[in-house]
Amino acid sequence: MTTPRRRPDLPEVIVTPRLVLRQGRAADATALAEAVGESLDVLAPWFRWAETLQRWGEPGDLGCRARIAEERYRAGEDPTYFAWDRDDPGRLLGEFVLLSRDWHYDALTYLGWVRRSAWGRGIALEAGDALMDEAFTRARAAVVEAEVDGRNAPSRRLLGRLGFAPYGYTPAGERWAREG
Ligand SMILES: CC(C)(COP(=O)(O)OP(=O)(O)OC[C@H]1O[C@@H](n2cnc3c(N)ncnc32)[C@H](O)[C@@H]1OP(=O)(O)O)[C@@H](O)C(=O)NCCC(=O)NCCS
Repeated sequence: MTTPRRRPDLPEVIVTPRLVLRQGRAADATALAEAVGESLDVLAPWFRWAETLQRWGEPGDLGCRARIAEERYRAGEDPTYFAWDRDDPGRLLGEFVLLSRDWHYDALTYLGWVRRSAWGRGIALEAGDALMDEAFTRARAAVVEAEVDGRNAPSRRLLGRLGFAPYGYTPAGERWAREG
């Protein structure tokens, strides 16, 4: 017998000093396409979906990504947070997720990206700190994991600043983890 799918207890909206992290909606497609559009060449080396989009896609294809984020959430799956600039509310600055596995709710997987024009301002750090708080307090995760390509210096630096440490490898690269 299979256990019904349920997601970890994470809020739909998280507010930080400069950001609103809100569960993605289909209506966010245009803002998402703009953010991804300016960042595709710096996302493609690290994300399969971005590489595929860069090779084959058109901006309109991002409509699917926003719609799927909404549909997955409505179906009871993990949230996909779009990060909005509080000083410029229509501007999407990045995307962050905390994924759970069907069989393991006390371990979450963190990943995310920031649009290129917002790099170097502590946006990923601010979003990541807020997500770690929610993961370890409200969602009661025992551990948050991340996978990173060993050549991705900014991401490794970010993970270190968020309290992660490397502890092994996956076929895709390094495995990092932070315990609560
Ligand atoms: C990794 C990424 C999310 C960082 O976003 P960001 O908002 O620019 O990061 P922050 O400004 O919060 O910086 C976080 C830390 O990373 C460091 N960092 C950011 N960009 C860096 C770069 N190009 N080289 C070295 N370190 C970098 C910052 O210096 C900071 O560390 P510090 O405070 O000790 O100096 C962004 O570069 C990105 O989206 N990259 C492409 C996608 C990706 O690699 N995602 C991660 C997959 S897990």
